[in-house]
Order: sequence, then structure tokens, then C-alpha cells
Amino acid sequence: MVAPQQFTDFIDQNADRFIQRLGEAIAIPSISGDASRRGDVFKMADWLEGQLNKYGVKTEKIPLGKQQIEGQTLDLPPAILGRIGDDPKKKTILLYGHFDVQPADKSDGWDHEPFQMHYDKASGKIFGRGSTDDKGPILGWLNVLDAHHTLKLDLPVNLRFCFEGMEESGSEGLDELIASEAAKKEQGWFAGVDAVCISDNYWLNTRTPCLTYGLRGIAYYQLNISGPGADLHSGIYGGSVFEPMTALITLMGKLVTQDGRILIPGVYDGIQAADANELKKYEDLDYSIDDLESAAGGKIANSAERSTVLMGRMRNPSLSLHGIEGAYSGAGAKTVIPASVNGKFSLRLVPPQTPEDITKKVIAYVESEFAKLNTRLNMKIEYLHGGKPWVADPSHWNFEAAKKATEAVYLQTPNYTREGGSIPVTLTFADNLGVNIMLLPMGRADDGAHSTNEKLDASNFIKGSKLLGTYLYEVGEITKS
Ligand code: BES
Ligand code: MN
Ligand code: MN
Repeated sequence: MVAPQQFTDFIDQNADRFIQRLGEAIAIPSISGDASRRGDVFKMADWLEGQLNKYGVKTEKIPLGKQQIEGQTLDLPPAILGRIGDDPKKKTILLYGHFDVQPADKSDGWDHEPFQMHYDKASGKIFGRGSTDDKGPILGWLNVLDAHHTLKLDLPVNLRFCFEGMEESGSEGLDELIASEAAKKEQGWFAGVDAVCISDNYWLNTRTPCLTYGLRGIAYYQLNISGPGADLHSGIYGGSVFEPMTALITLMGKLVTQDGRILIPGVYDGIQAADANELKKYEDLDYSIDDLESAAGGKIANSAERSTVLMGRMRNPSLSLHGIEGAYSGAGAKTVIPASVNGKFSLRLVPPQTPEDITKKVIAYVESEFAKLNTRLNMKIEYLHGGKPWVADPSHWNFEAAKKATEAVYLQTPNYTREGGSIPVTLTFADNLGVNIMLLPMGRADDGAHSTNEKLDASNFIKGSKLLGTYLYEVGEITKS
């Protein structure tokens, strides 16, 4: 282990305090997608900036402009940029994370209040919204800074930080900030960055750490069907009018088959089939159908073939139907014809798909299918947000350092994964900085990001903090050799 014993001992000795600090962060309901919580996203930015400053990180909160949401104009939460260390002999690593979270309400089915940390000592699980996505990992970096500051240890690398508060809502404003900082070259916050590390994803199972070299992109759509001036009584109007829900369900039913084949013409254009080399990579992963089904909480794998299931998540596009806004969803048997309904769906994208190209195909297809319905209803299809897919070179020194760190902390060789989820800003960093990016997750497959009872295992939080620190030392070693 190249990290000093003092550092890893400090992490162990301060574990309880670190968990309490995670509790403080969870208690700020920084939900970026809920206009009424915007103040809490700002509060979370202040809290995080205060923590960074305590450990000597120089920071600046960058305003990102305004946003239209739920019919209001709101200030976007700031991004926090930071720096510590300026030694030209050391490598400079940029860390990214997000301090906003998904919505959560106890009534969704949580066993405890989502915004009060519940630490179950018996199972070692830390429950709370944001525990794994992405407050735990951000606090892992704080733990590393805390240790070095308190022990008066020099950091083995120069660090730069980019933390945002809009990731769960499409990272509004951040692309422009990154591009403008990158364009400032030596004068910008990202001057001299040699590589990027992002801790914002999960292991493939519950036992094997992983390094991630790819993410799918995303393209999110809203399909609106309207017609009547108001909700109607189905006894009075049913049978004499075109109904928006019927049209919407028909169209949504034409997007994807039950076994996951996307029906939009041209969506698969340019996607290479996996060659023998790539297939072998899926064979090598420590993963089983059981891992998938126990994390998902149901026997629902769409194939009995391990590699088919893995490729479905890692290297193929997918289309999911998310919900219908405006449809009747209460209890009981209301006899209503909803006047206007919004169907939500998104595609996960893989190279060479781009949101721009896919959007053209989606719109053309939905328009032609709607025309075939021959109704007198109105249809509007809107692209809400998206991001391009990303794949990196896993043989780069950045990955080598993380591999060594994983072996030192976990005594295991990591899985190398591509993720099905999306962090759109990853490709923005890659395009603007031209450096290698590595994803080094802290949490496990069953953490339940975005779900009820989201958790982070205390052991992942504590060992994960050692892992993040040890990775920096391994990067430091490379510079010396
Ligand atoms: N941490 C996730 C990204 C992620 C999800 C990585 C699943 C690995 C597996 C991130 O916070 C997230 O939820 N991203 C959104 C992005 C979207 C809102 C643009 C996603 O993937 O849905
Ligand atoms: Mn996340
Ligand atoms: Mn998320």
C-alpha cells in the first residue's frame, strides 16, 4: 500500500464522525427537480463549500443563470469550482460530483424518513436519499481532505474540484461553464488537469469493486396529446370523441417491444456488433443473473444468458417508458377522460448515437405513427434533455492507478465495467479537456439509487474513502517513476 498508514488509520478512527457528517448532508433535501426545494440546493452548495474551505481548498461558486421550471423562473444552483495544490512536479486530478438528489417522500414506501439518515448498526447500512448518489462519494473526498489537513500530510497530487447541483435534472448550465473554463487555458480553473476522476456509479454486484470506462448517453422525451378543453365525463362523451389517452397509449406501445427491441427506424444505425474480444470482456466479469435479480428485487431478467443481460445494460441502446402525467392515477374508479396527457420516455444511447440524430428519428417516427391514427387530436413531441455516450481507454495510467488502489484496499482485482446510466458531463469534460476520465465508484449494485430506501454500506463509505485517497497516492507514484 503506497498510502501512508497514518492516512488509513485516520479514516478508521474517524469513521463515526464521518458517518455523522454524511447524516448532515442527507438532512439537506437538495432536490434539483423540485422547484420548492431550490433553496435547499443552494444551502447544500453553501454547506459543501464551507467543508472544502475548512481543509484549505480555495473555491468559487459560479452562478449558472436561470431556469424555467413548473411555470416559474428560478436561479440555477451554482457550480462549486475548487483547487488545492500547485506543485508543478505533481499530477493534477480533477474531481467531479453532484450535490443534488432525486426527489423522495416517506409515502413512496421508505421505511424511515428519507432526509434523516438512518444508520442501522446491525446491518451496517446507512439509509437516506443521496447516501450513495452522490453525497456519500463527495463526502469520501472530504474525508480524504480532512485526514490530510488534520494530520498535516501533503496531498500526493494537485486537486481541482467541480461539484454541481443540477445533475439529476440534466446539468443545466454546466456544459457552458466547462467550455468557457477550458477556453481560458492557463487562466482557467481546469488549467493543468492531467486526468479526471468521477465517483458517481456503482459496483456491478455486492462483492467486487469496479472501475468504469463507459457510460450510456440519454435522450429524454415528452409526448403530449390533447384535444378536449377540459377533463370529460366518460358516460357523456365516451363513444363520441377522440380520447387523448387512447392515442397516447397506442403511440407509446409502438416505441419498444416487450423484449426490448426499439421500433424507431434507424435507431440502431452504425452500432457495431460485439466482436470476440469484446464478448470475452463480459465473460470475465464477476456477475450473475442472480446479482441482477437480487439488486432489482424480482425474477425479471429478460434473458437467461449472462452476457446478453450484461450487453443489454452496457453496450446496447434501450428505450424505457417512464410515466404519464395528467392521467388519472388516484385510488378508486373515476370515470374520466383526461383532457391532456404527457407520456414520458427516454432512450439510453451508445456510440455512435447522439441525442441530436436520435431526436430527428424519434420525431419523424412519432409524427408518422400519429398521422396514421387519423384522429382530430393534437400531438406535440418535445426533447427535454440528453447527453452523449462516453467510452474511455481503460489501459490509461489513470485506470492503472485506480486498479492498484483497489487491490491495496480491497485485496481484489476490480471488474472493468461500462455503465448503463448516464452522467452527461463526462463527455463534456472529455471533449473540452482532452484527458482521460475514470469512474471510481463507492457503492454497491443494491444501493437503490433513485429508489426507496436508498443506502450506502458503512464499509463502502469507509473503505471507499481509503480507496479514493489511495488512488491519489498511486497517481503520485506514477509521477515519480
Ligand atoms: N449516478 C447516476 C448515474 C448512474 C446511474 C451511473 C446508474 C451508473 C448507473 C446519476 O446521478 C444519474 O442518475 N444520472 C441520470 C442522468 C440524467 C438525469 C441525465 C440518469 O442516468 O438517469
Ligand atoms: Mn449520481
Ligand atoms: Mn442519480
